[in-house]
Amino acid sequence: MAELPIIVAPDPRLARPAKPVAKVDDSIRKLMNDMLETMYLAPGIGLAAPQVGVLKRVIVVDCAKADDKPKPYKMANPEILWQSEDMMVQSEGCLSLPEHYADVERPAEVRVRYVDEQNEIRELHAKGLLATCIQHEIDHLEGVLFVDHISTLKRGIILRKLAKTKRLNASAPV
Ligand code: NI
Repeated sequence: MAELPIIVAPDPRLARPAKPVAKVDDSIRKLMNDMLETMYLAPGIGLAAPQVGVLKRVIVVDCAKADDKPKPYKMANPEILWQSEDMMVQSEGCLSLPEHYADVERPAEVRVRYVDEQNEIRELHAKGLLATCIQHEIDHLEGVLFVDHISTLKRGIILRKLAKTKRLNASAPV
């Protein structure tokens, strides 16, 4: 496994839609495992392939509590089949928007169909943090970030701060 560099916003590569995976083969399995390792090291609870510069419909999530056993999901072509009318607000962050958080409202429960690492079609009913996380990662496959769900004003503040951090880092001596 290998740690992959994570793209930080603002970056046009995070705004592009990802392409479906034709078949989960060894190269996709390697991508899934590398993404999972990258996510754990960050640390984070979800990561989508476009965040590591790969425009494929692949996401990984693990919303297990810190003291519990890891519960990773590796999903290709995830698709929301059903979402609850009940909504839920969670404070969301993103490895591509480090150190920024905002309340985002999304359906509280979702049913997701995806292709697993054995190339088998599976379905998952998710609620709570897992539901939020899966919806957040699927958004990345459409080029959508959590800040796209909040007010223009708040989004502008976060993106300007991130752009400024990038400029400072670019000019800092190493
Ligand atoms: Ni994210």
